Amino acid sequence: MNMPKFYIYEKLFSSSAPQIEPPATPAKYNFIGGHNDPQSIPIDGLADAAATVLKREGHRLAMYNLGEGPRGYSGLRRFLGHKLASHRGISGSPDDILVTSGSIQGLDLVNRLLIEPGDTVLMEMFSFSGALNRARAAGAQVVGVKVDRDGMRVDALEERLATLKREGVAAKYIYIIPTIQNPTGSVLSLERRHRIVELAREYGVPIFEDECYADLAWGIEAPPALFSLAPDVVVHIGSFSKTLSPALRIGYATADPRFLARMVAAKSDGGTGALDQLIAAEYFEHHFDDHMPRLKKALKRKLGVMVEALEREFGTGADLWVPQGGIFLWLELLGHVDVRDLSQPALDAGVAFDPGPAWACSPEDGRSFLRLCFALPDETQIREGISALANACFAVTGIPARGDNRPR
Ligand SMILES: Cc1ncc(COP(=O)(O)O)c(C=O)c1O
Repeated sequence: MNMPKFYIYEKLFSSSAPQIEPPATPAKYNFIGGHNDPQSIPIDGLADAAATVLKREGHRLAMYNLGEGPRGYSGLRRFLGHKLASHRGISGSPDDILVTSGSIQGLDLVNRLLIEPGDTVLMEMFSFSGALNRARAAGAQVVGVKVDRDGMRVDALEERLATLKREGVAAKYIYIIPTIQNPTGSVLSLERRHRIVELAREYGVPIFEDECYADLAWGIEAPPALFSLAPDVVVHIGSFSKTLSPALRIGYATADPRFLARMVAAKSDGGTGALDQLIAAEYFEHHFDDHMPRLKKALKRKLGVMVEALEREFGTGADLWVPQGGIFLWLELLGHVDVRDLSQPALDAGVAFDPGPAWACSPEDGRSFLRLCFALPDETQIREGISALANACFAVTGIPARGDNRPR
């Protein structure tokens, strides 16, 4: 397109205006991001739900928020109330729930309410890059808390809180993904949950609980949400992105009613898309209990294929953190590999992965780790992609070598 000169804007952008990111070409073997399983999108069910709600409630689309106010569609909040009570131990009325535009908006709202430049927040040493980046962009210093395969270590949290207190620093929140952690896949035990709540109360630091993946646990009974143990000190957010579709952009939050009211006041977007809410509510009200086992079965199968491929291709050259649910596999390449050296060669071989440093409070802690999303690719892509990744890795680092149990 023949456009006039752009210089007028260049002089006007604010200091915080984001730079343009170069568009990423989708890789042939795409293991990045938090996408879902395409074959598990319930297309017929969503089409039926859309037809039903449009015929029943379509005229209400003439009004912002369907004429119901900024907390979101009451039918969706009713469904969420039941789901949170029956699956996460959280009791409360639908009025205690705020529907958000993805749980990312929940993160933005909490940061907007709590963070001033120079503040400190605590997170698991490996955490969701979106939460890390948002807290940093809000001006916070992010302090990592050591984790193991069972989640945040409570001794490490206590030590961090005590150190900060000695330094006169009051952290603004402890952000935690207790159930199927991103990226590690860990599930925090009930005992640790109780202890973390005790520490939050003792040090006067609220907990910011992100439960994006709690409904995707298999083979284990997920312990109750932290919010159910201590609604006075926990802000809880969740999402439909992983249970249904990330393209829908529906999340939710619940918190102390006075805190939630401030979140509602800060949510100045004219409301989360009402048609999406109507459809999701209609579909899940009737099909949550059959959709979730189907989705989990598909994800578990893909994880199995990925684990098998990684064991075959990397042998003892990689340490896998095999999750009990979710969409990610976190793994460490042994032999001091720096995965940042591997990103471009892997991309050249058609493989995109998320490098550990971007998922670590201190990037160096994640230097040998990478995160693979197994939900989006099909089984053939998983097998071929892991093989291509191993070849690229060997070419760059000499790992995985023959001695790692694989016939390279
Ligand atoms: C832990 C965590 N929180 C929040 C989000 C954002 O999800 P949403 O699509 O609901 O905005 C993600 C997405 O991957 C996530 O992993």
